[in-house]
Amino acid sequence: MLIKAEHLRKEYSPGIVPIKDLNCEIEKGDVVSIIGPSGTGKSTFLNLLNRLETPTSGRIWFDGEDTTSSGYDLCGMRKKMGMVFQSFNLFDHLTIIENVMLGPVKLLGKSRQEAYDDAVRLLTTVGLSDRGLSIPRELSGGQQQRAAIARAMAMNPKVLLFDEPTSALDPTMVGEVLTVMRNLAKSGVTMLIVTHEMSFAREVSNRVFYMDEGGIYEEGASSVIFKNPVKEKTRQFIKNVKVFKWSTAESGVDFIGLRSKFETFAFQNMILPDITRKVMMLLEEIIAQISREERDGGLSAGFDGFLVTAEYSDREREVRVEIKWNGAAFDPLTCGDEYSRILIRHVCKDASWDRTEDKNRVQGTVR
Ligand SMILES: Nc1ncnc2c1ncn2[C@@H]1O[C@H](COP(=O)(O)OP(=O)(O)OP(=O)(O)O)[C@@H](O)[C@H]1O
Ligand SMILES: [Mg+2]
Repeated sequence: MLIKAEHLRKEYSPGIVPIKDLNCEIEKGDVVSIIGPSGTGKSTFLNLLNRLETPTSGRIWFDGEDTTSSGYDLCGMRKKMGMVFQSFNLFDHLTIIENVMLGPVKLLGKSRQEAYDDAVRLLTTVGLSDRGLSIPRELSGGQQQRAAIARAMAMNPKVLLFDEPTSALDPTMVGEVLTVMRNLAKSGVTMLIVTHEMSFAREVSNRVFYMDEGGIYEEGASSVIFKNPVKEKTRQFIKNVKVFKWSTAESGVDFIGLRSKFETFAFQNMILPDITRKVMMLLEEIIAQISREERDGGLSAGFDGFLVTAEYSDREREVRVEIKWNGAAFDPLTCGDEYSRILIRHVCKDASWDRTEDKNRVQGTVR
């Protein structure tokens, strides 16, 4: 085991505790993608590992030693742990090759010749063999980030930490940096990568940590987390789900209001007009059936309005619709007339009704 974190907690101030209780083990050769919503402590976690931040409590073992114990050699640790930042952090006044040679000469005591030979080799592997004598500002963002990766590799670290290495880049340059990282991963370098590039994470990592609620909320093999996560929040994040909620306390539903709210949501999330139209047809048809039943006195006194939830997955290009209401058992999918049933089947193939205690629910997926 290369890294182990136990009951890690980071409290910046009494109200700001991004990491409450984080536990993990990382083996040599692991490529771990760290994903999760903004503000869930992903950067904080990396900064605790490389000890740019001090944990409030808990322990971190790295390469057999407790990095949180007093007297631990932090400088020695930083030689073995490379870090690649979003903003490259190259030394502006040094040429690219000097940037790469600096650590090995100053910190590892290598001769300039040896450091130079290594730097030339590393710059070749990141596709910058002809840019060694440039200074950073003469390079594009993608080239600077590749140089920063070469610089980190020059220390021959036991693990490389990346904090959103492509998020400051022009989209045209993301691919070249990901290619370099992909090659590193294949060569067996242990890597921890905080990233929002989901398809890259899925392809390159063997493990995924989904961070939420103050720790690693769900972790697993990347094939499992990206396909069949166990927990609901992970699923919503992976599928990039956007949630629409709407409720009314009456049976006489303001369809124009509902339509206008849903259309705004659809517009903001770039839901296709065809899907938007079908969702509205489904909602209106089902709610109309239930309202009719309520008017006719069939729902009993328990009825107190509707709760509509629509979850849009950008990745799947589908909307999961759920309508809930209280009252007597009533299945609006079978109670309507022939036309209504055909319409519902047409817009939503898997619509279903169920009931638990005195709650009715219709669910379905619109594509
Ligand atoms: N140095 C700091 N001092 C005080 N609060 C901080 C500090 N660094 C981070 N935080 C707070 O800790 C929380 C977690 O921040 P962090 O940067 O680790 O999140 P993140 O998961 O990396 O988010 P993002 O995806 O936006 O980069 C946030 O609420 C942030 O405001
Ligand atoms: Mg961050």
